[in-house]
Amino acid sequence: KTGAFTFDPGFMSTAACKSSITYIDGDKGELLYRGYAIEELAVHCDFMEVCYLLKHGELPNAVQKAAWVQDVKSHTMVHEQITRFMQGFRRDSHPMAVLVGMVGALSAFYHDSLDINNPEHRLTAAVRLIAKMPTIVAMAYKYSIGQPTMYPCNKLDYSANFMKMMFGTPCEDYEPNPVLARALDRILILHADHEQNASTSTVRLAGSSGANPFACIAAGIACLWGPAHGGANEACLKMLEEIGDVSRVPEYIKRAKDKNDSFKLMGFGHRVYKNFDPRAKLMRETCHEVLNELGLHDDPLFKLAMELERIALEDEYFIEKKLYPNVDFYSGIVQKALGIPTQLFTGIFAMARTIGWIAQWHEMIGDPEQKIGRPRQLYTGAERRVVPPMDQR
Ligand code: SDX
Repeated sequence: KTGAFTFDPGFMSTAACKSSITYIDGDKGELLYRGYAIEELAVHCDFMEVCYLLKHGELPNAVQKAAWVQDVKSHTMVHEQITRFMQGFRRDSHPMAVLVGMVGALSAFYHDSLDINNPEHRLTAAVRLIAKMPTIVAMAYKYSIGQPTMYPCNKLDYSANFMKMMFGTPCEDYEPNPVLARALDRILILHADHEQNASTSTVRLAGSSGANPFACIAAGIACLWGPAHGGANEACLKMLEEIGDVSRVPEYIKRAKDKNDSFKLMGFGHRVYKNFDPRAKLMRETCHEVLNELGLHDDPLFKLAMELERIALEDEYFIEKKLYPNVDFYSGIVQKALGIPTQLFTGIFAMARTIGWIAQWHEMIGDPEQKIGRPRQLYTGAERRVVPPMDQR
């Protein structure tokens, strides 16, 4: 899109990096993965094809896709020691704490044999992370509810396999609902990458020192956990449950506008989008499809969310501040309908964003001009001289 706009020097001086992976136009509400509009990818592609696109820069043909999917499937299991590592956590640990620990622990398993200057090793690290994240997220859930781990079922596609690991048990046959599996696949596509957001910048900065890529992704997971970032979907659902009824919406809109109140409307506003987040519209459609498939079209939370969105979009404060729903506004409702526990919403976000993180890491580490990141500061402290000991002052 460089032909469509001219870089202003000021922009380049503040730009964190150059990248050809994802493009966002915050004013127009546009999002492109490798030049393809998110609206087209969400309709015509599945998550494995989008993973291939983000990693390799092109959509795969049938042969490339089959090889890619097979490669991912050959890495879906985790080392049994990782399974034992999970046992060290309290059962009521927040899943994001478990994910940070588990993915960080993968760096202990893939380090000595990993040469990040070797493109093949970098590709294998990427495939391992894409493949193992669903297994680890589902393990964290099963561990928290005291059920046995469900091992990956490689005859299923990515999202269906995740649902089986989440909701299947050793004693019952479980067939994922294909409509719901497709909806989950679309949720993963919508969260796959988003330019230089906080967690991606964390991964790039950590990776710029040459650190182990598994440890860098663990750093990205830690950053995503925050309620101002990936934790907003969990916070948004809790907010909707707290509001409870449409009659209380004005009270919360008022609080969101009150500078003396730290309350922010979760799922609204964005560092870059000053227009509708294109993902929010697609997430609303996906939410509608899932609720209809489950016969929950009268879901009170969905109705409350749509009314809250309508009122906020008509409010002069939100209009003036250019605050629109973001990707997190509907994702909590649809994930709750899919049976995903609230605390795991950000874990799903991390599972989806792993491909974005690793593609951005790969782009950075493969750049011969790449140097270690070293943000500067504006020093606001004093300059002083040491005076002799107190008794001489
Ligand atoms: C994600 O960066 C990414 O790409 C992130 C992400 C990704 O895919 O990686 O898109 C995922 O993190 C989406 C954002 C999820 N977070 C939330 O929904 C939490 C609620 N949103 C806010 O915390 C907030 O909107 C931020 C943190 C997202 C952005 O905050 P900014 O940078 O302050 O937004 P802004 O500059 O546009 O704010 C303008 C004004 C400010 O007030 P003033 O200083 O002008 O008086 O609007 C206010 C803000 O305080 N404001 C809000 C608000 N968001 C901004 N007021 C009430 N409710 C809100 N949600």
